[in-house]
Amino acid sequence: MTKKLEGKVALVTGSGRGIGRAIAIKLAGEGARVVINDLDAGPAAEVVDAIRAAGGEAVACAGSVAAPDFAERFIGTAVETYKGLDIIVNNAGYTWDNVIQKMTDEQWYAMIDVHLTAPFRILRAAQPVIRGLAKAEAEAGQRKVRKVVNISSMAGLFGNAGQANYATAKAGIVGMTMTLAKEWGRLNTTVNCVAYGYIKTRLTEATADGSASANIDGREIKLGVNPDLMAMMERAIPLGRGGTPDDAAGAVYLFCIPESDYVSGQTLMCSGGLTGF
Ligand SMILES: NC(=O)c1ccc[n+]([C@@H]2O[C@H](COP(=O)([O-])OP(=O)(O)OC[C@H]3O[C@@H](n4cnc5c(N)ncnc54)[C@H](O)[C@@H]3O)[C@@H](O)[C@H]2O)c1
Repeated sequence: MTKKLEGKVALVTGSGRGIGRAIAIKLAGEGARVVINDLDAGPAAEVVDAIRAAGGEAVACAGSVAAPDFAERFIGTAVETYKGLDIIVNNAGYTWDNVIQKMTDEQWYAMIDVHLTAPFRILRAAQPVIRGLAKAEAEAGQRKVRKVVNISSMAGLFGNAGQANYATAKAGIVGMTMTLAKEWGRLNTTVNCVAYGYIKTRLTEATADGSASANIDGREIKLGVNPDLMAMMERAIPLGRGGTPDDAAGAVYLFCIPESDYVSGQTLMCSGGLTGF
């Protein structure tokens, strides 16, 4: 049976862990060749190995999406390795919370940089490549639909106390999605967004003593969310549970398949039925 994404070239940021990893594995399982990115080279290499072991194709492009030269390197890896570019998923990110009176400029800009400026630069670098491919296809009498999926959060749609930086960035990506859907329609490229509620990953899982942290872009960032808060949220979710990374990947996959070729500029909530906070 032909796989849905056979021959496509997909790029997924932050795909060494969590939701990004599940998206990369899902797209590869459906036949896409995937460029795996993560800040951490080890997890990125592990995902490449897992995809190859399952008979798929993947290559790593490690590094921070917030680095000024990252976008060109990322798009360049896809073009040089696989000679194409069909799907871009802007997923990489983390949270760095504080109430506004305690939030530093560094905290503010870290979230804007990773959740908003990085997707902006990646899509800006992708535009000439997509334009060139779309032009060549038009001249050959073909129409090939490309896909961008940006990752937002319910915090970006409804706000979340302690996340002025993150919620602002995640609201911004919704605006970028709607704008590029308008700019890129003539390039046969759909641009959509998935806003997650509560997905169980390193980002949200609480550790027993609440002391887990990770070094992200040279800063020690606290991981996990208050377990009481997450338990309360889980009770409010109509489907009665937090989502898994595979649940999360499924929503992105919907925007990548041919059946969604006429859907663009949309934000899909993947939240187990939760429609607000
Ligand atoms: N988990 C949730 O409940 C939830 C809810 C709403 C939105 N989101 C969003 O989903 C996306 C994925 O989050 P997750 O839950 O899978 O988290 P995660 O921590 O499990 O995975 C995120 C991955 O992104 C990588 N990353 C972080 N900063 C990076 C950078 N600057 N450059 C490259 N890679 C970087 C991390 O190393 C990690 O491997 C994020 O954009 C997050 O904001 C998650």
